[in-house]
Amino acid sequence: MDFKTEIAGLTAKLIEEVFPGAAMDAAAIGGMLETPPDPAMGDFALPCFKLSKTLRKAPPMISDALAAKLSAPFLSRAESVKGYLNFFVNKALYAEQVVCKALREGESYGSSREGEGKTVVIDYSSINIAKRFHIGHLSTTMIGNALYKLYKFLGYRCVGVNHLGDWGTQFGKMIAAYKRWGDEETVKKGGVDEMVKLYVRFNAEAKENPALEDEGRAWFKAIEDGNEEALRIFGWFKEVTLKDAERVYDMLGVKFDSYAGESFYVDKMQPVIDELRQKNLLVEDQGAQIVRLDDYGMPPAIIMRSDGATLYMTRDLAAIRYRHETYDFDKNLYVVAYQQDLHFKQLFKVCELLGWDWAKGCEHVNFGMVSYEGQALSTREGHIVYLDDLLTQAVEKAEAIIEEKSPSLENKHEIAKDIGIGAVVFFALFNGRIKDIDFTWDKALNFDGETGPYVMYTHARCASVLRKAGAEEAAPDFSALDDPEAQAVIKLIDSFPAAVKSAVERNEPSFVTRFSCELAKAMNKFYYERRILDDDPGARAARLALTKAAKQTIAQALSLIGIKAPERM
Ligand code: ARG
Repeated sequence: MDFKTEIAGLTAKLIEEVFPGAAMDAAAIGGMLETPPDPAMGDFALPCFKLSKTLRKAPPMISDALAAKLSAPFLSRAESVKGYLNFFVNKALYAEQVVCKALREGESYGSSREGEGKTVVIDYSSINIAKRFHIGHLSTTMIGNALYKLYKFLGYRCVGVNHLGDWGTQFGKMIAAYKRWGDEETVKKGGVDEMVKLYVRFNAEAKENPALEDEGRAWFKAIEDGNEEALRIFGWFKEVTLKDAERVYDMLGVKFDSYAGESFYVDKMQPVIDELRQKNLLVEDQGAQIVRLDDYGMPPAIIMRSDGATLYMTRDLAAIRYRHETYDFDKNLYVVAYQQDLHFKQLFKVCELLGWDWAKGCEHVNFGMVSYEGQALSTREGHIVYLDDLLTQAVEKAEAIIEEKSPSLENKHEIAKDIGIGAVVFFALFNGRIKDIDFTWDKALNFDGETGPYVMYTHARCASVLRKAGAEEAAPDFSALDDPEAQAVIKLIDSFPAAVKSAVERNEPSFVTRFSCELAKAMNKFYYERRILDDDPGARAARLALTKAAKQTIAQALSLIGIKAPERM
């Protein structure tokens, strides 16, 4: 039963009765119903001024007349207040409906089939070869991962792409540096760090010795020409980087369906360049090939430099077309920082100019910057926080907290992992994605306040209550859930499907993060104010059912944003 529809139908009928001659459409009434800001004013309200024109009566007269006659089993009462008709739903019935539905549907509660038959490609994380995974990659990785799970929950087919940054002249320089100063053992041991060192040294020495640049260029040309040694070293650099990244992905529980990065598109650019030329979009500018975008208030999209080198843009154009041909996507999302706003605007504009209609489903899902303990991160100034260090620290800190709070807990290390990593992920996904955020340990790992550990702790507390209660035998008496605390929890559980839906509509996982936090707060309030393990068996059964539904919904919300909820903490 949907209360809103029922109320609208009932009211429409009543209007025709009370005001003979007036014809009322239930759907129209449904559209007028509002949710009062304060639950004490009712669950739904009909602002009767919206009817005064049709009925030719003053709003208070309308609301008075209707309130006097309104009654139905699904309503506890109706009230007329200053031209508003306020409806109070039958709380026991509402509780029963929501709790039973959530429990009956279990893990699929909140899911839907709206995405059935549709495909969404999600480009996220998209790291660069020979660079270490740092805190700046946290948002793209976790927003992308959450969107993947959220879309999937709504029935979409998802394709997760790690569009590796694995093409460009810097890789020629790295090989040159490796050949001069590197050795296999050191790179094997030191991993990406060692490659970065080689690259930094190359750039420093190239300032004194410009001939090095030629060497770098020659090695890049060797990669392009398919020279065996060049490809072998380059391929190995890639392997080492990915192995490092894989460790972080494992910790975060993140996976991809494709690692097709920039190098994958090297042999797929020519047809795009040809099409640009054929459609008269390509113009020469100082030897370079560009697409002018002045008419759209943007600098030109550079497709080919004067030395014939292609660019990030060129490969992205080839990638869009490849994704269209391979996956036939409905949506193609790019989870990339707002620093690349212009790049994506240009990219999508060029697609439009090419007449690629299907590219309309492309969207740049941008996000703000992450600083660390009040300090902006900068590779150049050496102020950088690596993600694996951050996660390892988070786990250690969580372990210390557990040691202090519940030293006898079993599986401490596993649980500390869930809490520590979950805390970092929760922090990254809590604010609207476009906001810049400052990571601080205090804000992320606090057990009170709007944090991951707080929500996880609430979940574990529900689990503990349920364990204590054991198997329930009595039939629940849902009228025991008519207090404001229980009702607040019920309303939130009821709104879970809508929270998921709007998170997907706006590509905004924070809606689900915040939802989990609101539900945890409401649940804690309920826990403090009401005795769940009541003496009355009917009340006890109802409160336990609510606890179970809340626990399940918190766990689901967290899981959708990539966080595990431990049963014990
Ligand atoms: N590797 C790029 C970077 O770190 C991000 C790539 C995003 N994806 C894309 N298709 N352009 O800036």
